[in-house]
Amino acid sequence: MKICIAGKNNIAIEICKLAMQYFDKDDIYVITNSTDNGIDGFQRSFLKYAYNEQLNIVNLEFVYSFSNMIFLSLEFDKLINPSRFKSTNLYNIHFSLLPSYKGMYTSYWPIINNETSTGVTLHKIDHGIDTGEIISQIEIPIASNMNAKQLYQEYIRAGIILIRDNFDNIINGNIVSKIQSAKGSTYHSKASVNYKNIIIDMKQTAHTIKNQIRALNFRDFQLPKVENIPISHCVIDKIKSTKKAGTLIRENKWCFYYATIDYNIYLYKDKLLEICNCCYEGNVELLKYFIMCEYNMNEQDREGNTPLIMACKKGQIEIVKLLIANGVEISLEDYMGNKPLDHAFNFGKSTNSYECYDLIQNNI
Ligand code: TYD
Repeated sequence: MKICIAGKNNIAIEICKLAMQYFDKDDIYVITNSTDNGIDGFQRSFLKYAYNEQLNIVNLEFVYSFSNMIFLSLEFDKLINPSRFKSTNLYNIHFSLLPSYKGMYTSYWPIINNETSTGVTLHKIDHGIDTGEIISQIEIPIASNMNAKQLYQEYIRAGIILIRDNFDNIINGNIVSKIQSAKGSTYHSKASVNYKNIIIDMKQTAHTIKNQIRALNFRDFQLPKVENIPISHCVIDKIKSTKKAGTLIRENKWCFYYATIDYNIYLYKDKLLEICNCCYEGNVELLKYFIMCEYNMNEQDREGNTPLIMACKKGQIEIVKLLIANGVEISLEDYMGNKPLDHAFNFGKSTNSYECYDLIQNNI
């Protein structure tokens, strides 16, 4: 039996690692996305991983003739035509609770549509787009402050779990599946969002504006902009709008304050760099202000540094205490795979002061 893993990101890598426990390396085939440039970012490069592991990197045509093969599509960017394959063991992970949200941008549309949950689906591949029989699903709650990037990361995590849970059955051919209902089936095409021309509609209710901001906040692609300034999040005021919807009432260093159809809204300017700097420098008062303004303390910069990691790099114990008290994710690692604990350890090693390290260790 052979296995072919086609796709991108951490999900493809983690499932490749799983496959290596079950299959000979020679029987594992990798197909990477055309956009994979071999560089790790907020998601690791599958191409780089496969190359370093010396796996067979092939193209689709190469695997069509294999009859005894499992084909797994994990964020793969090409449409699959099952009639080209000799194998019938063709599976896809789709980032939604099918039958709803077939197609593209499933980190965008459920947020825009104010959904409170979504999920991941393991399904058979048929001739349609995400239309195959459903094998298994995991639901993901969408919290009211969750943004598109956070949702995408949840999809990746849940997708890995879904494959792991079903892997034995997949390779043993123990698949039970059910056809998708036509009821509740929705689809969004590539043209359904034009990320190159994003306009936030401010003549809306505060809640709808907030959903637009959340759905467009994916800093590795873009942040939504208002008055040409990148916005990280918004907070709906208790005060009802008396001015015309879309009127800018005031602006300061940190935010815009707008009237909407119903309640006034604060649109906070992106300050991730300043937040990371203030944690590194140990500016407790400024950090308290950012927390009060509801800035997300689990946000990651280009290298995956979080405010907590920045504080650990410099052994800023008061900042670490404050961040922990505010419930940050204590083990959120940077894109090199280093956790706050690792950074605190390095600081300890170079200064012989393990206060931060001990604090983190005791809170894990
Ligand atoms: P992508 O990897 O293209 O996959 P898909 O559309 O199949 O989900 O994009 C992942 C998410 O990133 C997508 O759900 C929405 C978001 N996104 C942006 O915010 N901006 C962009 O320019 C793109 C292409 C995607």
